[in-house]
Amino acid sequence: MAEFDGIKEAHNKIPLGWMIFFVGVIVWLVWYIVSYTPQISGWSQYKVFEEEMEAASGVKEEAAQENPYEYSAAAVKEGKALYVSNCSVCHGADLKGGVGPDLTGSLKYGDEDREMFVTVADGRPGGMPAFRQQLGTERIWKVLAYVDSVRERGERP
Ligand code: HEC
Repeated sequence: MAEFDGIKEAHNKIPLGWMIFFVGVIVWLVWYIVSYTPQISGWSQYKVFEEEMEAASGVKEEAAQENPYEYSAAAVKEGKALYVSNCSVCHGADLKGGVGPDLTGSLKYGDEDREMFVTVADGRPGGMPAFRQQLGTERIWKVLAYVDSVRERGERP
């Protein structure tokens, strides 16, 4: 303990609580910098924004195995209108075929929801155009809800 001009220099220990808080702040700061520095963690506000937009726009439905609109009468109705303006030119107003094949019978690329989605979204080599850009995921599912409703009607005696 030093003494200058009668003033004592005291070496009091920092209270433990302060020490813990102080170290905690430093640890948090390092963590924060590491997590939010794009060069280190790859975090970017654009990526976060895109993820949020994707979630909001239903692009995630993209990966759905089953048609989310299968039992929706409103979607089938909308799908019918979409079919008339986008598909009937090749597949016929009654889906019985024309330039494109009959859609009410067995389908060579598969009649599972997922397979038909891929057919319409990405197209097929024999002249089936890709509709992913033009219609987007939701409307493709709606068109297919309509196509399925006609197929099921056709199967009934
Ligand atoms: C330009 C004409 C054309 C248009 C428009 C068109 N298709 Fe096609 N489509 C075809 C042809 C041709 C094929 C056969 C492709 C092949 O065999 O490789 C086909 C195949 C298909 C198949 C697969 C059939 C099978 O046997 O597996 C489905 C399902 C289908 N189309 C649905 C649709 C739907 C739904 C639309 C509207 C969004 C549509 N198509 C619009 C021409 C068209």
